[in-house]
Amino acid sequence: MQPSYSVLAHYYDKFTHNDCDYIGWSQYLYCLAQRHGVREVADIACGTGKMTALLLNKGLKVIGIDNSAEMLEQARAKCRNALFVLQDMRKLRLAHCADMAICVNDGVNYLKPDELAPFFKQVASNLVGGAPFVFDVSTKYKLQKILSGNVFYYDGDAETLLWCNGGGQNCVKMDLTLFVRADDGKYERRDESHVQYVHTTAQIKRALRIAGFQLREVTADYGKPLQNDSLRACFYATKN
Ligand SMILES: C[S@@+](CC[C@H](N)C(=O)[O-])C[C@H]1O[C@@H](n2cnc3c(N)ncnc32)[C@H](O)[C@@H]1O
Repeated sequence: MQPSYSVLAHYYDKFTHNDCDYIGWSQYLYCLAQRHGVREVADIACGTGKMTALLLNKGLKVIGIDNSAEMLEQARAKCRNALFVLQDMRKLRLAHCADMAICVNDGVNYLKPDELAPFFKQVASNLVGGAPFVFDVSTKYKLQKILSGNVFYYDGDAETLLWCNGGGQNCVKMDLTLFVRADDGKYERRDESHVQYVHTTAQIKRALRIAGFQLREVTADYGKPLQNDSLRACFYATKN
């Protein structure tokens, strides 16, 4: 079993191609960046740099942070003019404070419940005063009612992904098995595993308050109204 995102990194963009509205999300983020006069964004848990690339194209300076060397390799190939740092976001330390921080597409779900407030504090200590911090989480509804206990698959020409989710009280363990076709036509099996944690809106609000952020807006999927069956909750806060 490999660490999370070591095997998946190479295929991540392909598998998330239809799932997420990165263009719509980037427009929401860019509007906020403009409202706050942002020039430099810290893209925390940036992965393969999908959002990094979109924000760079809008003229923002972006620094990407992730703890997966394999994901960062993909990001560096995509975004030649961004700086990427291999770092655990729980120990986030930038060379200088950024004007905005984002953590897009589940990064926060990788934190255990007791890591939430310390992580937010760490983010605050790397931001200038008044800076926006925008992140999302997969909701409790999505993790417990949609993902937990279910199997999903992707069947491509040269690779097949099986995604098996075990249920826990406040987390979902995800076992990913990838079969990749080699040049000789044989398939090679690779496995990695992830754990994502449930964070309720109430828990997030409390942790933001403790860390010195003021919550401005909670939406579903970057700007849409949040409902009981929303799959994603997006938080926009500012550093006090
Ligand atoms: C679902 S991916 C999202 C990537 C990217 N933000 C996007 O929108 O495509 C989650 C990312 O969180 C990163 N991650 C998880 N735990 C982390 C940690 N403790 N420190 C830094 N990155 C982390 C993973 O390596 C992965 O790249």
